[in-house]
Amino acid sequence: MPSDRPLASSPVVTIVGATGAVGVELIHCLEARRFPVSELRLTASARSAGRTLPFNGRAVPVSELTEESFRGVGIALFSAGGSISKRFAPIAARAGAVVVDNSSAFRMDPAVPLVVPEINPQAIAGQRGIIANPNCSTIIAITPLWPVHRVNRIRRMIVATYQAASGAGAAAMEELREATRAQLEGRAFAPKVLPHPYAFNLFSHNSKIDPESGYNEEETKVIRETHRIFADDSIRISATCVRVPVLRAHSIAIHFECERPITPAEVRDIVQTAPGVKLVDDPQRNYFPMPLDASGKDPILVGRIRQDVSDPSGRSIALFVCGDQLLKGAALNAVQIAELLLPR
Ligand SMILES: NC(=O)c1ccc[n+]([C@@H]2O[C@H](COP(=O)([O-])OP(=O)(O)OC[C@H]3O[C@@H](n4cnc5c(N)ncnc54)[C@H](OP(=O)(O)O)[C@@H]3O)[C@@H](O)[C@H]2O)c1
Repeated sequence: MPSDRPLASSPVVTIVGATGAVGVELIHCLEARRFPVSELRLTASARSAGRTLPFNGRAVPVSELTEESFRGVGIALFSAGGSISKRFAPIAARAGAVVVDNSSAFRMDPAVPLVVPEINPQAIAGQRGIIANPNCSTIIAITPLWPVHRVNRIRRMIVATYQAASGAGAAAMEELREATRAQLEGRAFAPKVLPHPYAFNLFSHNSKIDPESGYNEEETKVIRETHRIFADDSIRISATCVRVPVLRAHSIAIHFECERPITPAEVRDIVQTAPGVKLVDDPQRNYFPMPLDASGKDPILVGRIRQDVSDPSGRSIALFVCGDQLLKGAALNAVQIAELLLPR
């Protein structure tokens, strides 16, 4: 049972998986957004115990995650993988913490809200247990689509992702750097983290394929999570998820069909005022969203907005988005959720 003790206005915050690609961005987001933290505690595996990480000008020690790590903790931000979340998130919740979990462990649990603050902040209301952060490709694809869906319901969407190394964690980023160096120097390189050669290559997303549907887990997450967050199972969705040799920030080509005719100008107007997104759409200069421009930035970049000419009814739009999935696709979204938990 989660605790019903009210959350302090400046709670003790712990990060589980603080040394990972998402973990260090969680620290960065807490600092950058001046999140009111009375004490920050960092945990990771035994390998990292004794390290320190900087926060607000201080070196904060990293300790090994144990069942005792959650005493007195108000908010626990988890980013250490699904198996750690499955084991330790319920322990943290029982100890009185509200858990914001970056893994996929609880995302389809009907008792656990799955939240993008720009879309369904109301799902958090009164929640004192575990809250799930959606999959990074899902967040980046649907945050710009939500304000469109609100004015002209989306009935069908087809997404194709171009996913960066950072989405597979710090070790995958290092593998991309190493593989690229090796390739340029003419050395052999055997991949250890990802299943295929990564430098100057791309491959279908490295998650399990469902033999029945032929979709991989990443594609299935985008489909199911979009239905859950939009609270609309009737949207017809298909996805192709691909890993590309980009260090950081995912790109996604999206085609969507609305209930009524819609123009690129209308979509541009909607995107211009929507929270969490930024219009980058300059056909004159052929300047559109790029992962390098999105890296290290909060907003999801949206551009290449055009009528989808394959639908003569005028109800379909094609566009292209890029978002830093370590930020809006993970750490930033989690810290935004934590902000919603603070007493007002
Ligand atoms: N990368 C993304 O863009 C992204 C986006 C959305 C969600 N996520 C999810 O966020 C989680 C973390 O991803 P990541 O990319 O940050 O991975 P990562 O770079 O590989 O980091 C993993 C973290 O988990 C810690 N860890 C591993 N085993 C542990 C153990 N037995 N006990 C305690 N801590 C342990 C690691 O600590 P050590 O350094 O000590 O090994 C490290 O801090 C995953 O569930 C992932 O699916 C990632």
